[in-house]
Amino acid sequence: MACQHVEPIVDGADTFTVAMPKYTFGRGCLREAGERAQGLGMKQVALFTDPHLVEGEYVAKVFESLRAQGLSVTIFSDIRIEPDDDSVQRAAQFLRAGRFDGVVSVGGGSVIDTAKAGMVCALYSGPLADYFGPPLGQAKPVPGPLLPHLACPTTSGTGSECTSISVIRFNELNTKFVVGSPHMLPNEALVDPAVCDTLSAMAVASTGFDLLCHALECYTAKAYTRWQKVADPQARTLMQGANPWSDLGARRALEIAGEYLERGVASAADHEARDQLMFGASLAGMAFGNSGTHLAHAMSYGITHLMHDVDTAGYAVAPPFIPHGISVVVNAPPIFQYLAEAAPQRHLAAAQFLGADTQGATPDDAGEVLSQHLIKLMRATQMPNGISALGFKADEIKALAASSLRQQRAINNAPKVADQADMESIYQAAWQYW
Ligand SMILES: [Fe+2]
Repeated sequence: MACQHVEPIVDGADTFTVAMPKYTFGRGCLREAGERAQGLGMKQVALFTDPHLVEGEYVAKVFESLRAQGLSVTIFSDIRIEPDDDSVQRAAQFLRAGRFDGVVSVGGGSVIDTAKAGMVCALYSGPLADYFGPPLGQAKPVPGPLLPHLACPTTSGTGSECTSISVIRFNELNTKFVVGSPHMLPNEALVDPAVCDTLSAMAVASTGFDLLCHALECYTAKAYTRWQKVADPQARTLMQGANPWSDLGARRALEIAGEYLERGVASAADHEARDQLMFGASLAGMAFGNSGTHLAHAMSYGITHLMHDVDTAGYAVAPPFIPHGISVVVNAPPIFQYLAEAAPQRHLAAAQFLGADTQGATPDDAGEVLSQHLIKLMRATQMPNGISALGFKADEIKALAASSLRQQRAINNAPKVADQADMESIYQAAWQYW
C-alpha cells in the first residue's frame, strides 16, 4: 500500500498487522465491568489496582459490578507507580497463589502494565529480563496466551489498555525497559472518562503530553516498509513503524491534544475536554501500539534513569520521581526539530493537526514550527522549563545520552537514527526553553 511517507522499499516489509482489544467508551461504563468480565469467561477474578486507588470509588464500582455477576474477586494493590521488576514478581506470586481465570485492572499505565507483565511471569518460566530487547535481554517472545484481561484505565495518557507492551523499571540497571508481545494485549478495554474528573491539573498535563507524544512519534515514525520483511508472520512485531492504520489514530489524537489539552488542564469541570483527552489517549494507544514510538520515548528513559527530584504536585509518590509524560515531553521540542528534515511533510502536517499556525510555512520550516508550538503548549500548561528545571547539571548530558542509547528498537523506529553525539546535542538544546 503506497501513500505519503509509506512507499515500497526493496526487501522492506510489505505487510502490516493491527491488533486491538474490544473497546467500550462512555461516562459511567465501569458499571459494565461484571458483565464484560463474565463475557470473557471469568469466574475467579484477580483485581489489580494501586495503593492510592484501592479505597476509592472506581475500584468500589468495579468490585460491586463483578460481585453482582456472582464472580469471586481478590484484590492485589501492592503495585509501585512506575512499576519495577519487584512489583512484577509480587504480582506473579499473587497470581500463582490463586486459582484465577482472569484479570481486571483498574488504574493508570503502571497498574495495567504490572498486570500484563505479572501474567507473563506467573504463567511462563524464566526471568523477565529475557523478554527485554537487546542489549539487556534477548527479546525472547512471550510463549503463549495470558489470562483474559479487562483493562479499565484511570488516567488519560498511556493508552496501555490498547497496547501489547508493558514498561518496567529494571532495578539492577535502574532503567525502564519494554516487554512487548501480541499476547499482552488486553482482551477488552473499558474506558470511563468520568475517572478523569478528579485528576489533578499536573496529572492531566503530564499524561496529556504522554498521549500527545505517542501520537506525534507514531505519526512521524519510520514507515513500516523501511523495516525488514519477517519470514514468520507470527514473529511480526506490532512495533512495526508508521502504517496507514496508525496514521488514522495518531492524526485524530493530535487534533484532540491540540484542541483540548490546555482546557483539560485548566479546569476539572471541563468534562468535554477531559472526556476527549481520555478518548485521545486510547486512540493514540491504538495507533502507537501498532507502530511503536521513537526518540522522545527513548530519550525519556535517560531522564528517569538519572532523575533528580522534581516538584510533582498532584502525585502522591515518593521521590525521586518524574511523571512519565514530563520525562517524554521535556526533550520533545529539539527532538522534532532534529528529526523534521527526515520527514518534513509529516512534521508540518503534525504541527497543523496540533493547531499550530502553519500559514506560509514550507516543509523546510516544519521542525521550527512544530517545536515552537510544543514549547507554547508546555508553557501554557506549566511544564518544567527544560531539563535544567528537572535538576540536571551540564556534566550529566553525556550520561543521559549513553543511558538512552540502550533503547535501540525505539531509536531505530525514528525517521532518522540518532547516535550518542546527536543525543548530547538534543539534551543540550532541551536545557531551557523560555
Ligand atoms: Fe508513554
